[in-house]
Amino acid sequence: MKYYVLPDENAIGQAVGNLFCDLVRQKANAVLGLATGASPLPVYARMISQCEAGEVSFRDVRTFNLDEYCDLPQAHKNSYRTYMRQELFDKIDINSQNTHFLDGNCSDEFAESERFRQYVKAAGGIDLQLLGIGRNGHIGFNEPSENFTQEPFKVALTPSTIAANSIYFDDIPMPKYAMTMGVGMILRAKQIVLIATGSAKADAVKAMLEGEITPRCPASALRQHPHVVAYFDPSAAALLRK
Ligand code: F6R
Repeated sequence: MKYYVLPDENAIGQAVGNLFCDLVRQKANAVLGLATGASPLPVYARMISQCEAGEVSFRDVRTFNLDEYCDLPQAHKNSYRTYMRQELFDKIDINSQNTHFLDGNCSDEFAESERFRQYVKAAGGIDLQLLGIGRNGHIGFNEPSENFTQEPFKVALTPSTIAANSIYFDDIPMPKYAMTMGVGMILRAKQIVLIATGSAKADAVKAMLEGEITPRCPASALRQHPHVVAYFDPSAAALLRK
């Protein structure tokens, strides 16, 4: 896996935002895999500023988000749909009908998994997938486990993830389950870009790059993909050998 260490999250946001904008300029109907959380915010800021400046249009782009909480109304302020609207979709010229999410409130998680899988397939697959990484090495909400899961599935979130994300929930307890793309589906993306910033990610970054490839560190699977590039700030990269 190729990686770059850039001075801070804004430099990373510019670089990764440019990757997305360049792709969309080359392929107007590109299929983007998107993430939520803190890591993508500077990327989305760059995409917004490029769109506002008239340098790129997302009119024909299709998007698929990695994950969504279960048992949380779609319109709740902490749903990932709300996040995407507030942080990106409402600020660019995307057609909201081209934005796709797993339904965390589905009654049949297997039917929902198949629906989402078929949508991605019909779109021609994901051209560029954006990822953050959890402190425990998760990607999407693929928590450390005994197996790499292939297709989208319903996952019980770990105490580490609940502790990290509970800060966003001030009105209700944080959901304990989520629907997420499986590692197999993430690896089917044609290109992947991962962002990690801050010292809390240093152990996970080291395990991803220098540990064994194991579902105990889901991000380690990315080393099997030929087109992954990661961007770290100095704190996230601090424990790497070189
Ligand atoms: C979000 C997601 C998660 C986050 C990860 C890092 O859609 O799938 O894997 O990318 O938890 O979150 P931040 O960026 O908030 O540190």
